[in-house]
Amino acid sequence: MSQVLRGHAEDLYALELEELKKQDSGKLPANWTLSPQSVVTYLVGGKLKNGFEVTPKYIGNRRLMEIAVATLTTDRALLLYGLPGTAKSWVSEHLAAAISGNSGLIIQGTAGTSEESIRYGWNYARLLAEGPSEKALVETPVMRAMKEGKIVRIEELTRIGADVQDTLITILSEKSLPVPELNIEVQAVRGFNVIATANNRDKGVNDLSSALKRRFNTVILPVPDNIDEEIDIVRRRVESFEKVMEVPAEKPALQEIRRIVTIFRELRSGLTLDGKTKIKSPSGTLSTAEAISVVNNGMAMAGYFGDGRLTAEDLAAGITGAIIKDPVQDQVIWQEYLETVVKTREDWKDIYRACKQ
Ligand SMILES: Nc1ncnc2c1ncn2[C@@H]1O[C@H](COP(=O)(O)OP(=O)(O)OP(=O)(O)O)[C@@H](O)[C@H]1O
Ligand SMILES: [Mg+2]
Repeated sequence: MSQVLRGHAEDLYALELEELKKQDSGKLPANWTLSPQSVVTYLVGGKLKNGFEVTPKYIGNRRLMEIAVATLTTDRALLLYGLPGTAKSWVSEHLAAAISGNSGLIIQGTAGTSEESIRYGWNYARLLAEGPSEKALVETPVMRAMKEGKIVRIEELTRIGADVQDTLITILSEKSLPVPELNIEVQAVRGFNVIATANNRDKGVNDLSSALKRRFNTVILPVPDNIDEEIDIVRRRVESFEKVMEVPAEKPALQEIRRIVTIFRELRSGLTLDGKTKIKSPSGTLSTAEAISVVNNGMAMAGYFGDGRLTAEDLAAGITGAIIKDPVQDQVIWQEYLETVVKTREDWKDIYRACKQ
């Protein structure tokens, strides 16, 4: 097994991508490695003509993925928008892997992201020694993607200051990046496009200017529709985590995952699943991604400090940690939920006991 902690999507799923390419009968947009139809199959999974099984990466509405992929064939860029933990980065990585065969051209947006990290920078030693030349130019992932006709990913676009965001406008509308110092311009090769992600929960974000907004097609990724879908997501992600981390634990029982997801969904929506009891929602987002972490944590506890079988005790610490983000208010809300909901469920006694400790 590779020593890399987390491989790129195009490496982890190389076999699937290769098989999809072999079976692909659709028309390829310029510089795409797969047809749009095959990219969607790669994302949502399916069976190929020769019986090869493609695993689903995104679990949810297929239509959303079709819109996302179709957008990338046009001159508009794609913005994946939504609550934290709704798979925006995950989808963006898989889209880039399937379309360009490279998900690594990426810029992490922060308040400190500068224009140079989007356009280009200089190797100052060289610049001083030799003066401005193409050799002294430091390419950014955006510039490389333009030259190679690939997808570049910009994570957390709205954390980038508004003035810096606007450097993207020319890139997206003119598909060109001028380098006045050298009196040249880099023109984007066909196949180039941008996938940005942004979440609508974080504080201190910078709204997109309307000029920039117009150059993006926004696809909103929702929280999973129903509990079974969410359980399926958690189960699949936990199983792949186990494989990578080689945790010495048994596969978690579906029942255990169902309970975690139930707790998360109920607290998130402020209502029990049967619709009978109103509860208060804690301050955190309680996303699917956090449910995945809680189960992963529990698996590690069970594997290393338990008998290898996931129990309520293994999960308790993780659940409490995920739910109580504000030590005062959330603590009260959680206690109330434990007493009014968890305690009354016949087969939840073990969770109640474990969480009370
Ligand atoms: N609908 C879904 N289908 C498949 N996986 C999902 C889904 N929703 C969440 N996940 C899983 O949740 C995890 C977290 O997703 P990701 O990091 O992409 O979230 P995000 O939307 O980028 O969040 P943030 O806004 O915090 O950056 C991923 O491991 C992903 O597999
Ligand atoms: Mg993200």
